[in-house]
Amino acid sequence: MLKLWKVVRPARQLELHRLILLLIAFSLGSMGFLAYYVSTSPKAKEPLPLPLGDCSSGGAAGPGPVRPPVPPRPPRPPETVRTEPVVLVFVESAYSQLGQEIVAILESSRFRYSTELAPGRGDMPTLTDHTRGRYVLVIYENLLKYVNLDAWSRELLDRYCVEYGVGIIGFFRAHEHSLLSAQLKGFPLFLHSNLGLQDYQVNPSAPLLHLTRPSRLEPGPLPGDDWTIFQSNHSTYEPVLLASLRPAEPPMPAPVPRRTRLPTVIQDLGLHDGIQRVLFGHGLSFWLHKLVFVDAVAYLTGKRLCLDLDRYILVDIDDIFVGKEGTRMKVADVEALLTTQNKLRTLVPNFTFNLGFSGKFYHTGTEEEDAGDDMLLKHRREFWWFPHMWSHMQPHLFHNRSVLADQMRLNKQFALEHGIPTDLGYAVAPHHSGVYPIHTQLYEAWKSVWGIQVTSTEEYPHLRPARYRRGFIHNGIMVLPRQTCGLFTHTIFYNEYPGGSRELDRSIRGGELFLTVLLNPISIFMTHLSNYGNDRLGLYTFESLVRFLQCWTRLRLQTLPPVPLAQKYFELFPQERSPLWQNPCDDKRHKDIWSKEKTCDRLPKFLIVGPQKTGTTAIHFFLSLHPAVTSSFPSPSTFEEIQFFNGPNYHKGIDWYMDFFPVPSNASTDFLFEKSATYFDSEVVPRRGAALLPRAKIITVLTNPADRAYSWYQVISASSQAPLALRSLQNRCLVPGYYSTHLQRWLTYYPSGQLLIVDGQELRTNPAASMESIQKFLGITPFLNYTRTLRFDEEKGFWCQGLEGGKTRCLGKSKGRRYPDMDTESRLFLTDFFRNHNLDLSKLLSRLGQPVPSWLREELQHSSLG
Ligand code: A3P
Repeated sequence: MLKLWKVVRPARQLELHRLILLLIAFSLGSMGFLAYYVSTSPKAKEPLPLPLGDCSSGGAAGPGPVRPPVPPRPPRPPETVRTEPVVLVFVESAYSQLGQEIVAILESSRFRYSTELAPGRGDMPTLTDHTRGRYVLVIYENLLKYVNLDAWSRELLDRYCVEYGVGIIGFFRAHEHSLLSAQLKGFPLFLHSNLGLQDYQVNPSAPLLHLTRPSRLEPGPLPGDDWTIFQSNHSTYEPVLLASLRPAEPPMPAPVPRRTRLPTVIQDLGLHDGIQRVLFGHGLSFWLHKLVFVDAVAYLTGKRLCLDLDRYILVDIDDIFVGKEGTRMKVADVEALLTTQNKLRTLVPNFTFNLGFSGKFYHTGTEEEDAGDDMLLKHRREFWWFPHMWSHMQPHLFHNRSVLADQMRLNKQFALEHGIPTDLGYAVAPHHSGVYPIHTQLYEAWKSVWGIQVTSTEEYPHLRPARYRRGFIHNGIMVLPRQTCGLFTHTIFYNEYPGGSRELDRSIRGGELFLTVLLNPISIFMTHLSNYGNDRLGLYTFESLVRFLQCWTRLRLQTLPPVPLAQKYFELFPQERSPLWQNPCDDKRHKDIWSKEKTCDRLPKFLIVGPQKTGTTAIHFFLSLHPAVTSSFPSPSTFEEIQFFNGPNYHKGIDWYMDFFPVPSNASTDFLFEKSATYFDSEVVPRRGAALLPRAKIITVLTNPADRAYSWYQVISASSQAPLALRSLQNRCLVPGYYSTHLQRWLTYYPSGQLLIVDGQELRTNPAASMESIQKFLGITPFLNYTRTLRFDEEKGFWCQGLEGGKTRCLGKSKGRRYPDMDTESRLFLTDFFRNHNLDLSKLLSRLGQPVPSWLREELQHSSLG
C-alpha cells in the first residue's frame, strides 16, 4: 500500500502541478482578456446614462412654486443712484481660492470690481469720492473680518452702507478650530459650524431669487462636512438655501430640532440695522451657491449689476465629413440628431444645429458612414450650414489670396451641387487659423467668395481664461467669442471622458458648462462630427444641459442664426466692436496660426509719442543719424507720421502697420521706432500701445506748455483761412499741455521704467546731452557721440547735423521758426492757465524719482511769486 502510494504520489504531484499551472495560465488569460475587453469596449463597462429627465423625476422642481408674496426689491431710480457700479471685494490674500472664485464670477459677468486685502486695524479704503460712493456692493471673502473690524472702521463702513444703500455679502467658512456654535458678534444670529448636510432646497420665499428657480427638495449629500447653518428669531433674516443634518451628525444644541431644515444661506432684509446682507455658510465650491451668489449681487445692487434672463445658444458641429473612418456618423446617428433637435426645440424655440462642412471629405468613411453623409444631406434643410474650408486646411498657410479663394470656391461648388444653403453669412476657419491673429487674406477671400459677415473664435484675446474671451469687428466681419463645451474630436465615449465621466456630468450640472451659459448672454459652442457618432456625447451633453438649466434657473433659452446673433452681441456689447491688437508672437497658439511669411521683428522697439511742438521732429532727425536706429517709412497721408494707434488706421490691423517698417537686418541690434506726436494726449493710445508693444520704450518731450501753446498759436495765426473750428484748434493747442493727466494714463499701461521724459528746453540748447540720455535709456549700441555729430547753425538758431566743409543739414522751415517773443500779458495768462497742471506734473515727477526739467523749475518759481 505504502509502495503503491509512493508510485501514485509522484504521478499525482505531477497532475497537481499541471493543474496549478493550468489554473494560473487560465486566470492570467482571462485577466488579459478582461483587461483587453474593458479597454476596447468602454461601452460595456458603464452605459451612457439617459440625459437628465424632467425636473419632477430628477428631484428638482419643474416650473417651480408660484412666486411668494414677498415683493422683490425695486430697482433704484437713476436719480437716487449715488454709487459707482463697482464691487469692493475684501479678499484674504491675492491667492485665496474663494477670493478668486468671487472675482471669476464678477469678471465673467463683466462687472467692475476692486479687490482689497481685508484690512487690519484702520486700513479701510476710501469709500467716497466727494459726494459719490465709490462702490455699489461690498463682499467679504471672510465674514469674520467684517464682524471683527475695529469699531472705527466698522462704523465707517456701516455708515457708508446705510447712507448709500449699499449691501454686504459675506462668506463664513468653518475650519477645524471654529467654535461649533456661537453668536455672530453684534447680530441676533447664531452660527453652528462643521456640519454635514443633505437634501437641499431653495426657499421660494427668498426675495433675492432672480435667475434661480426655486426647487423642490433635491435629495443627496452636500459636498464636505464643514457647513455652517444660521439660526435666528429675528424677522430680518430670510432663509435662501435650506438643508437637513445628515443622520450621522450629533444633535444640535436645543432648541433646534433634528428634523428642521436649516438655512445655509440667509438674506438679511436690513430690518436690524438698515443694511441688507446675504450670508453664505460655505464657500462657492457648491454649484448652487454660485447661482445664488449671482442673484445676491443683482438683488443687493438694486439690479444694477444684474444679468438679463435671455440666453442665446448656438451649437456648431464642425468637421462635417472630416472625421476619420470609424468615428463618423451613421444613419442612426443622424436620426438621433434630428430627434434630439426636435426635442430641444420644445425647450429652446427653433433650436437648430449649425453644421460646418469640408466638401473634400464627403464620402470618405466606411460604407455605413457614407450612408450617414447622405442622410445628413437628405435632411439638409433641417439644419443650418457653414463652410469650414474645402480641404479643412488652415487659411494662414495660404499667403496668396486667390489660391485661398479658389479653395473656398471648391467648397461653395460642392454646396451648390448638393443643395446645401450658402446664404447664412457665417464661416469658421479650421483651428481658428487666420481669424485671430488676423490673416487679411482670409477676411478678403471670405467676403468675396461667400459674403461672410460673421465668424467666431476661441483665440481672442486668448484661449484662456475662457471668461476673458471677447468679440470684435474687423473689415466688416463680426467676430464672436466661441465657447468650448468640453467635447473635443477625441472625446467620443462617455466612459473615456478625460478625468472620468463624472467630470462631464459635473460640468453640465452646475459646473463649467452650466456657468458658461449662466454668465454669458450669448454662447456659441464648438463641437465636432465625432461627438455625434459613437456615444453621441454631443446630444447627451446639450439635452442634459438644457434640462438642467430649465430645472434650476428662470433663464429664457433661445437661439438665432449667426448674423442676427452677432448683431445682438454687438448691441449688448458695443464697446467690443473695436479690437485690441496684440503681438502674435507673445502667445504660442497665436504664433502657430500666424503666417510664416510674417515676423514680429517688424514692430518698433520704441515710440516717440509727442506732444506736438516740443521738439519731437528734432529727436526723430537726430536718432535717424544713428547707424543702429531705423525709423518707420513715412506715411504719405498723415504728415509723414503713421498715426496708427490713435486714428482710423488702427482698424486696418497690424499687417498694415508692420508694412511701415523694414525687415530688420539684425533683429537684436536694430532699433526700429516710430514717431507720432499726437499719441501723447490720446485717450486710447497707451492701452492699445501696451497691448501690441508691451515691452516698447516710450519717449516724450516736455517743454513749457506755455511755449508749446505759443508755438501752436504761430501755426494757427499763420493760416489766414483756418478751416477747423477755433475751439478744436484751441484744444489741440492747450489740452496736450495737461502733461500730468496724460502721463498718468501712459503709466496705467506702461511701467515707469519704460518711460523717458526728455526736457525739451535742454533738447533745444544742448541736444547732445539729451541724445546721450536717450541712448542710455534705450540701451543702443554703438554709442554715437552727438557732440561731434551736431553743430549749431547760427542762421537757423538751432542745432543741426554737421556736414563736411562746415555745412549743416537742419530741419525744414516749419520747425524752429523765428517769431517774436511772447508778450507779457499772454505769458501771464498761459502761466496761470497751466499752473495747477504744472504743479501736478512736479508731484508726479518727484513720485517717479525723475528729474524736474529746468523750464518747470522756473515756471514753478514764477507761479509761486505770482
Ligand atoms: P518752433 O517751430 O515753434 O520753434 P515738433 O517737432 O515736436 O512739432 O516741435 C517743433 C519745435 O521743436 C520747434 O518749434 C522748436 O522750438 C523745437 N526744436 C528743438 N530743437 C530743434 C532743432 N534742432 N531744430 C528745429 N527745431 C527744434
